[in-house]
Amino acid sequence: MLQHHQYDAVIIGSGAAGLTLALHLNSSLRVAVLSKGYLSAGSTYGAQGGVAAVLDQTKDSPHQHIKDTLIAGAGLCRKEAVEHIVEHGQESIQWLIDQGVPFTPDQDSSGFEFHLTREGGHSERRIIHAADATGRAISETLVARARQASNIDLYEHHLAIDLITAQKLGLPEQYCAGLYALDIKSDQVKVFKGNNTIIATGGASKAYLFTSNTDGASGDGIAMAWRSGCRVANMEFNQFHPTGLYHPKAKSFLISEAVRGEGGRLVRADGSQFMKDYDHRAELAPRDIVARAIDHEMKKLGADCLFLDISHKPADFIKSHFPMIHERCLGYGIDITKEPIPVVPAAHYTCGGVLVDEQGQTDIPGLFAIGECTYTGLHGANRLASNSLLECFVAARSCAQKINSAANQETAVMDIPCWDDSQVSDADENVVISHNWDELRRFMWDYVGIVRTNKRLQRAKNRVNLLQYEINDFYNHFKISNDLIELRNLAQVSELIIDSALERKESRGLHYNVDYPLTDDAPGETVLTPKNFNKQVALDFTPLGS
Ligand code: FAD
Ligand code: SIN
Repeated sequence: MLQHHQYDAVIIGSGAAGLTLALHLNSSLRVAVLSKGYLSAGSTYGAQGGVAAVLDQTKDSPHQHIKDTLIAGAGLCRKEAVEHIVEHGQESIQWLIDQGVPFTPDQDSSGFEFHLTREGGHSERRIIHAADATGRAISETLVARARQASNIDLYEHHLAIDLITAQKLGLPEQYCAGLYALDIKSDQVKVFKGNNTIIATGGASKAYLFTSNTDGASGDGIAMAWRSGCRVANMEFNQFHPTGLYHPKAKSFLISEAVRGEGGRLVRADGSQFMKDYDHRAELAPRDIVARAIDHEMKKLGADCLFLDISHKPADFIKSHFPMIHERCLGYGIDITKEPIPVVPAAHYTCGGVLVDEQGQTDIPGLFAIGECTYTGLHGANRLASNSLLECFVAARSCAQKINSAANQETAVMDIPCWDDSQVSDADENVVISHNWDELRRFMWDYVGIVRTNKRLQRAKNRVNLLQYEINDFYNHFKISNDLIELRNLAQVSELIIDSALERKESRGLHYNVDYPLTDDAPGETVLTPKNFNKQVALDFTPLGS
C-alpha cells in the first residue's frame, strides 16, 4: 500500500549538509531527513583531516584562506562564493563546538585552544580536527542532536528515486513538490510531499573503479536534479586524492593529507623522494598536482603504487595524531611507525554538481541543494583540502535562513499520483546490473581519469550511451531495486562528467587533457542545460568568462 508523508521540509541526506540544515530549521517546521543507508552512511562519517576555517586570527586571516582557495581553484572559483564561505567559517565551527563535537585540544601551547593541522595548498595551519576521525566525531554528534529534536523525523533506509515536479505532472507552472522514495526494508515506494525539498546526497566518486568513497556515492541527487530540469556545472572536475591505501583488502581506505601536513614524505620503492621535481611546495602542493605527479611516476616506473612515509617521526607522535590510520594499517600488517605506507590515487570528491546560489536555491522553485552534490563556485577547478566540510556547514546554515524566512508563505498544492509499477515484472537478469556497474566504473577510471585524451573521452561517451540504453530498458520493464536506481544515477552522472570533459578545450586544475595541454587565458565554467530546463523560473546565473 502506498504511503504519503507531508512535511515542511524533506531533506534527502543525513551527512554534514543534511543534518546541519535540519538542526537549523525553525522548530515549528516539520522536517523529514531521509538516508538510503544508516544515518551515518556517506562521506561525512569517513572524513579524516578536518575542517578548514580561520580560527586563530593572530596567525591567520580570511584574506589568506580566500587566497589559498583561489590559488588551488586554478582561476575558476567564484570569488563571492569563496568569500561567503570563508567568512562564515568561524561561526560554523563555533556552532559545531556548541553541539558538542570533540575537536582535538592543542597540547603544544600554541596559544590557541584547539590543535590546528595543515594540508596541501594551505599557507597556514587552519584545519580543526578530531584526531584523524573528524567525520565520525561530527556525524555522531549531529545524529545524536537530530534524534533529540522533536520536529525532525529520521527515515533510514529510504532511497529517494525521483523528484516530483509540477512540470513532470503536466502542469503549466514549475516547482518541486517532493519525491518518491523506496523504503528498502519494506520494498514499498512512498511519497514524501514537501513545501521545500532539499538535496544533500553527497558526491559521485563511485563512478570510478578506485575511490575513497563508500558505495552510496552514486550521485543520486545530481542525477535526480538533472532529470527534473536543473542545470549542472563543472562536472569534469573530479578530484583524485593522492593517497588511498594500496592493499588488496583495503576497500576505499584513505590515508589523510594531514599525514603529509605533519611531515609525511612521498617516496618511490627505493626510498627516493620525487615531489620537488614537480612543484616547489613538494608534498604540500594542491591535490591535483600531487595526484598527477604520483600518476606520472607510477606510469614511468610501471609501479602498482608509491609510498607515503612518516616513520621518521617519533612513534608516539604518529600514534597520537593518527590513531585510526595507525590501527587500520596495523590490521593490514603495515606498521606506519616503522615502514612506508603503499598508496595510490583514488577518486575522492565531486567539485561540480547542481547549480545553486549562496542559499542553495536550484533552478526549480521549492528545490534546494547543499553539500558535495552542488556547484557553488567555491572549489573552481580543484578543491582545497578540508574546504568541503566547511562548505556543507555554511551552505546548510544559509539555506536554513532562506527556508525559515519563507516559512509562512502559502505553497502550491498538488495531487500526487501513486508510483505505478503495474506494467513491470520482477527482474530475472540482475547480472546485467552488476556487470554494468563494473563496466561503467572501469571505463570511467581508464578513459575519464587523472589524465584524459579526446579519443578516450569519446570512447567513454559511446560506452556510457550504450549502457544507459540498457539500463533504461531494464528500469522500464522490471521492478526497481536500490542497485538499479543507483546504477541508473551513476550512468547519468558519468555521462555528465564525460560531456563536461569533452566541452573543456584546455587543461586546468583537475582536468588534464593531453590533446589540450595548455590553460586558456579566460577561464569559463562548463554549464550543462537539460532539455526540460525552464528558463522562466530558473536562477539568474551568468557563467564566468561570458
Ligand atoms: P555525505 O556525507 O556523503 O552524505 C550523503 C547522504 O545522502 C547520506 O546520508 C546518504 O545516505 C544520503 N543519500 C544519498 N543518496 C540518497 C538517496 N537517493 N536517497 C536517500 N538518501 C541518499 N572533506 C573535508 O572537508 N575534510 C576532510 O577531512 C575530508 N575527509 C574525507 C575523507 C574521506 C574518506 C572522504 C570520502 C571524503 C572526505 N572529505 C573531507 C569530503 C567530505 O567528507 C564530503 O565532501 C562531505 O562529507 C559531504 O557531505 P554531504 O553531507 O554533502 O554528503
Ligand atoms: C584528508 O584527510 O586527506 C581528506 C581531506 C579532504 O578531503 O578535504
